Amino acid sequence: PDFGSCPRKSTVAGGGTRSRQWWPCELNLAVLRQFSEKSNPFGSDFDYASAFSKVDVAQLKKDITAVQTTSQDWWPADFGDYGPFFIRLAWHNAGTYRAIDGRGGAGQGQQRFAPLNSWPDNANLDKARRLLWPIKQKYGSALSWADLFVFAGNTAMENMGFPTYGFGFGRVDTWQSDEGIYWGGEQEMFPEALNNVVRYNGSTDFTTRADELESPLGAVSMGLIYVDPRGPNGTPDTKASALDIRETFGRMGMDDEETVALIAGGHAFGKTHGAVTGDHIGPEPNAADIELQGLGWKNSAVPGNGVNSYTSGLEVIWSRTPTKWANEFLFSLLNNNFTLTKSPDGAPQWEALDANASYPDPFIPGKFRRPTMLTSDLGLRDDPVYNNISKTFLNDFDYFTKKFGLAWYKLLHRDMGPIARYLGPEVPKQAPLIWQDPLPNATYKTLAASDISSLKSQILAAPGLNVSNLVTTAWGSASTFRISDKRGGANGARIALQPQASFAANNPPRLAAVIKALKGVQTKFQSSGKKVSLADLIVLGGAAAIEKAAKAAGITLTVPFTPGRVDATQDQTDVSTFAFLEPKADGFRNFGHGTASSLTEELLVDKAALLTLSPPELTVLIGGMRALSANFDGSSTGILTSHPGQLTNDFFVNLLGSYASWSVVPNTNSELFQSTDSTGKVQWTASRADLIFGSHPELRAVAEVYGSSDAKNKFANDFVAAWAKVMDLDRYDVSGHSGPY
Ligand code: HEM
Repeated sequence: PDFGSCPRKSTVAGGGTRSRQWWPCELNLAVLRQFSEKSNPFGSDFDYASAFSKVDVAQLKKDITAVQTTSQDWWPADFGDYGPFFIRLAWHNAGTYRAIDGRGGAGQGQQRFAPLNSWPDNANLDKARRLLWPIKQKYGSALSWADLFVFAGNTAMENMGFPTYGFGFGRVDTWQSDEGIYWGGEQEMFPEALNNVVRYNGSTDFTTRADELESPLGAVSMGLIYVDPRGPNGTPDTKASALDIRETFGRMGMDDEETVALIAGGHAFGKTHGAVTGDHIGPEPNAADIELQGLGWKNSAVPGNGVNSYTSGLEVIWSRTPTKWANEFLFSLLNNNFTLTKSPDGAPQWEALDANASYPDPFIPGKFRRPTMLTSDLGLRDDPVYNNISKTFLNDFDYFTKKFGLAWYKLLHRDMGPIARYLGPEVPKQAPLIWQDPLPNATYKTLAASDISSLKSQILAAPGLNVSNLVTTAWGSASTFRISDKRGGANGARIALQPQASFAANNPPRLAAVIKALKGVQTKFQSSGKKVSLADLIVLGGAAAIEKAAKAAGITLTVPFTPGRVDATQDQTDVSTFAFLEPKADGFRNFGHGTASSLTEELLVDKAALLTLSPPELTVLIGGMRALSANFDGSSTGILTSHPGQLTNDFFVNLLGSYASWSVVPNTNSELFQSTDSTGKVQWTASRADLIFGSHPELRAVAEVYGSSDAKNKFANDFVAAWAKVMDLDRYDVSGHSGPY
């Protein structure tokens, strides 16, 4: 075989031209199937929390410290200390997080897989991960890679004198690349990708375009974590670099002060690597030959590491004490005159030509260099707001230390979701921080079975409440959950607070009426001296409505209900970042439609993926929600039944039983369709989120199961199971719920 050519013409193992190549626009359901138990060597019963409980964290720290301070010949440590390298490892794992869709971040150990393992910005972090293998090997299943990557950085920082704010373990490894993340549309990687203006809406002017960065992306280019260290598109414009920094760090949910703290704090340690020219560097791990065993960027200089290291191609050192926590970076930044120079590879960087050479060489004791900086570093000096913050930090090291500690903690934990997920002895004892979406502790007993059944009757009897509005409200509350950063969900009843109470998908006036009626039930119940949270009542209302609808269809069932939710206050709700949880479209409630870049049905699949639904769960939920007349606006779109409010499989029966009679409703941009009967009379209307279940071959195959004559009970039972799953997605507080990943 011709090993050199790629792509190759293989006749086995998925080779050949696939459907995706023939019909590239077919709706892709792959994101609903990923992270299946088939890929997980630990199996679906594996509970990371209990496996981790055996780890002796003090011993783990000793083990990490030993690795950190033992230089290996195959990848010699600068200054005899891998600490800064491990900090960069942690930062690049966590730094892919973006607040808009909650994706990215350190939570799944994704840097083990492509594309992240091979991103140019992650150059040589393959070696950092390999250095940690003996530790991973020792602890096995009890310590995830995801936890180890960030904990190694955290421990390294402590070993170098930085007092961290704390640390929570609990990141569960995944076993394949997360195909649900949109990393951008470029066909090329950084630096070539910089010429692509797709993610900037066509704009080439980097002095004005920073905020045009395509949503939900958090980096200026494919292959970078945030910004180009050389300045925008390799242009050493420090002020424009600051604009990119503000936009991209803002996408991570960091404000100006947190941003300066992170960069100045991070670059207090270590150095950059560009001792030789880039033409010495071989392919990244995913393109490297089999005998390189997963390592990439092989450097042909002799030696190909240590004194000749090449990572970013920039050769900068920021501090006189690069392995010790000190205010050296900011001191250098604000006290030197930097002149534009070039790295040995020809990349723009800055040097204080008139300063003393007092910055240590990483390998030659007694040899010193002059202070140097990246263009992006100088953005902290030349942007007026960053400049003020930098000065404050330089003048008050304790304040800087405190702010960096908080920002670093936020960086590493931002995607972990409820504090109930945090494990280990170092979880801070202080009150939770606002970005952790705090919930109050329950000060009352969870509901007894008898209370649950009496509350259900009271809800169904309450004026203004009906199957449709109870179901949409419960759905609106629970379906804000997103597995990406585990925010949202029904716990906290934040649907009654801003901004959720104003989400258009929640139909604010109708929602307000439902909340008012449920509060009436709550008040009455509490007058007996007992307590129930609004959050529980919202979910219970959905359960009561579904049971009623099933009964009306001749089916007796009980919807599983897990009590114990609590109600958050407005003060505990970060309005600006909760706004990101607003759905652009929610096909489950037939709300909204596609955007310039994504079709309605693609947004439906994306929402289903964030709710961890499988293709059958997605299908059965849609069929059930239509039967229950759960459109956000009470419209009849997709309600393919003459018995709305009964839990029947009519949606599937009528969808699959209509023969070629659907047509586009004019002027709806192919968003709305109608079917006519033999006399030409309009029979049903439906959206793309409805018709996709008849047109997509795999969804249709599932719809056929639920539309069959033997499926009435299966349909109802599967619907209830999927519904209950969604209601409980955020219940990390309930023991035994460790979440899918
Ligand atoms: C190293 C860029 C933010 C921590 C580097 C390197 C570059 C870079 C180019 C050199 C890589 C190499 O050649 O070895 C940037 C840019 C940032 C940023 C453009 C944002 C504007 C951060 C943050 C942290 C951090 C937020 C941590 C809180 C580090 C550390 C090193 C490093 C510790 C030294 C690694 C070593 O000594 O091997 N950074 N960085 N950086 N960065 Fe950053």
